[in-house]
Amino acid sequence: MKTQTLLMPLDMHLHLRDAVMLENVAPLSAYSFSGAIVMPNLVPPVENRADVIAYKERIMAAVPNDYFEPYMTLFYKNYDKAFLESVADDITAIKLYPAGITTNSEGGVSSFDIEEMRPTLQAMSDMEIPLCVHGETDGFVMDREAEFMSIYELLATNFPKLKIIMEHITTKEAVDMLDKFENLYATITVHHLILTLDDVVGGMMMPHLFCKPIAKRPEDLDALLTVALAAHPKVMFGSDSAPHPQHKKESCGCAAGIFTAPIALQLLCEIFEQYDKLNNLQAFVSDNAQNIYGICPEFKEVVLEKRPFVVPANYSGVVPMYAGETINWAIESID
Ligand code: NCD
Ligand code: ZN
Repeated sequence: MKTQTLLMPLDMHLHLRDAVMLENVAPLSAYSFSGAIVMPNLVPPVENRADVIAYKERIMAAVPNDYFEPYMTLFYKNYDKAFLESVADDITAIKLYPAGITTNSEGGVSSFDIEEMRPTLQAMSDMEIPLCVHGETDGFVMDREAEFMSIYELLATNFPKLKIIMEHITTKEAVDMLDKFENLYATITVHHLILTLDDVVGGMMMPHLFCKPIAKRPEDLDALLTVALAAHPKVMFGSDSAPHPQHKKESCGCAAGIFTAPIALQLLCEIFEQYDKLNNLQAFVSDNAQNIYGICPEFKEVVLEKRPFVVPANYSGVVPMYAGETINWAIESID
């Protein structure tokens, strides 16, 4: 039987939420990942040192063992240098959301005035704190990410030493940026390596495949597959697994977010095997992230096996991608 071993898998973009949802979903990521960059878009957002420390404690209390490192982030505001110095040791990155662009982002940035942002971004650059960005404008939904490229360019050229992570990229335009600017990196989700807009709304409307940024065109999918399958050294896996209760998804106003955490590694094996690139999967799910972020996760060995696996209909009321369907890889053992 075909197997694939992955060492210290990392999820470089994860929503763990809080309270009961946190208790339900955190163990699923902690089971198969060594660590994850934890998004700060709680209500209210994680925006000071006390929030970071308390949230990390709640995450650790929710996972059954300590082989899982939550790499904490702060919700971007135009913070001053003294504040950043006080919190730098407790965070791995800062996450910037344009105001109102996605779930729980109302307190985000409403104007990309570089001079207003300069003190914060220069201090982050000096302190080597990476900036993670949800790169979408409020334009037409299919053009939002491409339109944001000029803002990435502005950020990358004004702060050439700042590590900027283009989160959950979905377009050829974003892929092209990687080789244009030395300080731009990207995370890619598993669902954006599978879906186009056709899968979301081309037949019946599929709420569990609806997320932000929305899946794009076949040529965008091809561009994402090219860099992910090659494990381009500037791309890393970030699931953007974003759990919402079933009634918030199967509703007349469907919340954005796809829940993939418990099946992400299995689906990645399926995709990489399909293109005969399993040899590059280790770099995509861990090594690149370790290099980019300079992190050293604790040892964990995940062995996956090629055999049919029926995805559960739901995990404590959260419906995953491919619920009830059979996928071709399963987790065999974890050490
Ligand atoms: C995320 C969420 O639900 O928090 N939703 C999503 O569609 N990806 C927020 C985000 O990353 O945009
Ligand atoms: Zn996200």
